[in-house]
Amino acid sequence: MELAGIAQRIREKHGIPVNARDVGRMLAAALASEDIWRIVDLAGLPMLATCEGLQAFAEQGWVEFGGERVRLTEAGKRVAEALGIRPAQELRCPRCGGRGLELEPFRGLAQEFARLARNRPEASQEFDQGYVTEETTVARIALAFSRGDLAGKEVLVLGDDDLVSLAAALSRLPKRVAVLDVDPRIVDFLRQTAKEERLALDVYRHDLREPLPPELLRRFDTFFCDPTESFRGYLAFAHRGISALRGPGGAGYLGLTRLEASLTKWRQIQRALLEAGAAITDLFPNFHEYVNWPYIETMRAWSHLPVKRVPGKYEPWYRSALIRIELVEEARVENVRYSGDIFTDEEAATT
Ligand SMILES: [Fe+2]
Repeated sequence: MELAGIAQRIREKHGIPVNARDVGRMLAAALASEDIWRIVDLAGLPMLATCEGLQAFAEQGWVEFGGERVRLTEAGKRVAEALGIRPAQELRCPRCGGRGLELEPFRGLAQEFARLARNRPEASQEFDQGYVTEETTVARIALAFSRGDLAGKEVLVLGDDDLVSLAAALSRLPKRVAVLDVDPRIVDFLRQTAKEERLALDVYRHDLREPLPPELLRRFDTFFCDPTESFRGYLAFAHRGISALRGPGGAGYLGLTRLEASLTKWRQIQRALLEAGAAITDLFPNFHEYVNWPYIETMRAWSHLPVKRVPGKYEPWYRSALIRIELVEEARVENVRYSGDIFTDEEAATT
């Protein structure tokens, strides 16, 4: 079977847009590692598509599933060679982890933040949570500082299991930090910590499916959010953030994976951001690394995995890009209510 045939099978079974080149990327990932999580990460495609691709490879006799490993067979090696496919290599800069940032000036913040984050609430499936590593949160703050979006600015965080609001307030750089979250555990943790540490942090309990409270509209210079990745869910977060910006010059920081969002969805999202009045100024692949959440075995993709191994808590495989947008025109977004399930679509894997 040609790679194109496998791509067609994936499209038909899962409704996820992939092409023959994508299937080649799955094979390149399987050439590089026997570990299922590393393969999923390296392939950089919707996770359910990669799982289906690996099943097809096994049926072709290109790989074998043994224990917890995905082993390439001699037949698999020959196919790869014939197609000119080489093992995937990330070639990530070991010093900055590919973020291109010098974090030394933020070392003190990183230490203080790690101390406060120790008692954070664990990630909850109910709210599609899964938080980034502490280093990632600090790197986000450093990047925002370097872009002039932090010092002396009014900052809003929409959904904050990553504790970005805490790190921002702890830096003592912003003029004001406000944060919205639906999870009462996060709200309580942020309020309590802010009180103990005498941090200026306005914490609101708010469901982002609901319109923003009027007092938060057009009031901020910068927003941060790491949206759920269905198209509707993504827009719910992104549009709320944009509607909170004061106007042109305001900036937003958003996460977006390749594991739950095909490039077809990326394109829809990018177009929606542009239509809302923003330009995409920066895009860092794999900027965010996530700590493994406790509901790995009940997430949607688990049953699709060809080999099942629970990864260690600090064995990152789920990563996402950081996208910075800047408003260049007056925002064109509606502050509407979103009803129903905003978390799930064909590509959802970790919900
Ligand atoms: Fe570097």
